[in-house]
Amino acid sequence: MSESSVLNQGQLFKPSAEFTANAHISSEAQYQEMYKKSIEQPEQFWAEVAENFTWFKKWDKVLDWSDKPFAKWFVNGKTNIAYNCLDRQIAEGNGDKVAYYWVGEPVDERVTLTYNQLHEEVCKFANVLKSRGVAKGDRVAIYLPMVPELVISMLACARIGAIHSIIFAGFSSAAIADRVTDSTCKMVITSDGAYRRGKVLDLKSIVDEGLDATDCVEDVIVVQRTNSEVTMKEGRDIWYHEMMAEASTDCPAEEMDAEDPLFILYTSGSTGKPKGIQHNTGGYMVGSYLTTKYVFDLKPDDIYWCTADIGWITGHSYITYGPLNNGATSVMYEGAPNFPAENRFWDIIEEHKVSIFYTAPTAIRAFEKWGEEHITKHDISSLRLLGTVGEPISPETWNWYNRIIGQEKCPIVDTWWQTETGSIMIAPLPGIQTNKPGSATRPFFGIDVGIVNEKGEDVADNEAGLLVIKQPWPSMVRTLWNDSGRFKETYWERFEKQGYYLAGDGAMRDSDGCHWILGRIDDVINVSGHRMSTMEVESALISHELVKETAVVGFKHDLKGQGIAAFVTLAAGTEMNDETRKALRNHVRKEIGAIASPDKIYMAEGLPKTRSGKIMRRLLRQIADGEEISGDTSTIEDPSVLETLAKQEG
Ligand code: WT7
Repeated sequence: MSESSVLNQGQLFKPSAEFTANAHISSEAQYQEMYKKSIEQPEQFWAEVAENFTWFKKWDKVLDWSDKPFAKWFVNGKTNIAYNCLDRQIAEGNGDKVAYYWVGEPVDERVTLTYNQLHEEVCKFANVLKSRGVAKGDRVAIYLPMVPELVISMLACARIGAIHSIIFAGFSSAAIADRVTDSTCKMVITSDGAYRRGKVLDLKSIVDEGLDATDCVEDVIVVQRTNSEVTMKEGRDIWYHEMMAEASTDCPAEEMDAEDPLFILYTSGSTGKPKGIQHNTGGYMVGSYLTTKYVFDLKPDDIYWCTADIGWITGHSYITYGPLNNGATSVMYEGAPNFPAENRFWDIIEEHKVSIFYTAPTAIRAFEKWGEEHITKHDISSLRLLGTVGEPISPETWNWYNRIIGQEKCPIVDTWWQTETGSIMIAPLPGIQTNKPGSATRPFFGIDVGIVNEKGEDVADNEAGLLVIKQPWPSMVRTLWNDSGRFKETYWERFEKQGYYLAGDGAMRDSDGCHWILGRIDDVINVSGHRMSTMEVESALISHELVKETAVVGFKHDLKGQGIAAFVTLAAGTEMNDETRKALRNHVRKEIGAIASPDKIYMAEGLPKTRSGKIMRRLLRQIADGEEISGDTSTIEDPSVLETLAKQEG
């Protein structure tokens, strides 16, 4: 979104008096008072929140920030997040309450799990893990579609203190191998297959191929989902259902230190190698819980649906841990929004009377494109609150969401946060916030957002700057797995003196205190709400034998937000034609996964470089966006390469 387009629109949207009256946070004064306390006395504020949980031993100190940038929250506190998600809920009387209404992609498949039932499955699977020698601190990779066993697996790991590393089931075998090796996983949990738009994806053979390149995995547990034919490797592979049939339902929860790692989740950075974001037990538990409660204004009777995949942080925090710790009832859906037809989501909302719906701008743009007729034929009047996450939402898309899905009665929460932040950082509190379409509005409790210049000084209102967080918060990333050096360098070095966390986004705060996210400041692009590093795609391309040199940039894409454009210099004698493009795309799919496949591929006889050899990406972005080349080109070594590139369609 350009700065001018955000400044030029001024429509305001207030929640209804009825919504406000019933909201958890129902007055500006209440917000101000709580926010003030959360910033000025963060330890008292978060201690009160943490009191809602079961601690086997209480913490000695809420925050230890002496070893910057390695924060410790709830120092020496002992707890277990899976225990809090399940046993605590049952103790509080939620045993028979539905935790998940699971909806399969095949239209007639449903599974309902109450808190009692989920507890039983988790205990059984935790015993399965133990029987295979998985112990506290061991890493377990999970590569599963959106099936109930995914939630069960992650909670079973958490129950015994194993660290889960969920790998989105769209990633390739090479991506699995990298991630499994980086955190030396001992076990992989996968399935025979996955349903996607009616087709069966062969997950197990992708895992097999990935594991051929690793040597740390001792066991592979295979969930039977599609009844596909798979090869079970003797001595390594075991069926989930066979192990579960014999497992005991009695499994005490491991006592975890508040700072024991809970999970690793890999995300792209500005280099070719993904970063293993590490989240620890206590702070993540408290942060994901409180944001779920207040940002979604979650009440006991709500039917809550977050459409993300658990392979991303949104699913970790807002399908599993946040909702369960609130005793919520969620819908969990396995498949695509347009299978068997474009009305699938609205059909699910009607069937389950969903009241809170959380999705991504890229999905909203697709709904808009597919047409209102798919929506209006369903009764979606149960909705009372909408959310978005993952990328800036344009005021146009916001307005459409408000009108067509929100029926002009649902507040919209545009939530800004990151894999690293663990939970929502900037978002409206729906009962009190006057919304401005396109703005994530104001910081959540305890989040001290700054917008600063290169020197770390606050910029004035309505001026763009770098988004930083000035104080530690409970669910913050603790380190990068195996790479504390990169952790410091990526997030903390830039403003070491001030002790600020560098988010990597540009932003602006307006005179009402509302925040406008202006996009990434690094070589990270946002494809359909997912973070993709241009360097990662470049290193995939360069590993193809036909590629001599390459540069990858993002460009504006109607549905995806940003698309991927690759500029490629081929080996002598090779032509850039449909076949070459296909080969290169397939190669990227193999190296990373389908989400990284370039939308446009340009043949570059040469790349625009400065005399010192630096690729001028700004110019490549203009070409990929179909814009006139503008700005300074005087430092370019060979201007003729630009003309050749600009003539191509890509
Ligand atoms: C990056 C984080 C957090 C879950 C999804 C993505 C962008 C995220 C918004 C928003 C504008 C947003 C930022 C951020 N982003 N939410 N509401 N408005 N931009 O997680 O892969 O860790 O990516 O997504 O650029 O830095 P992620």
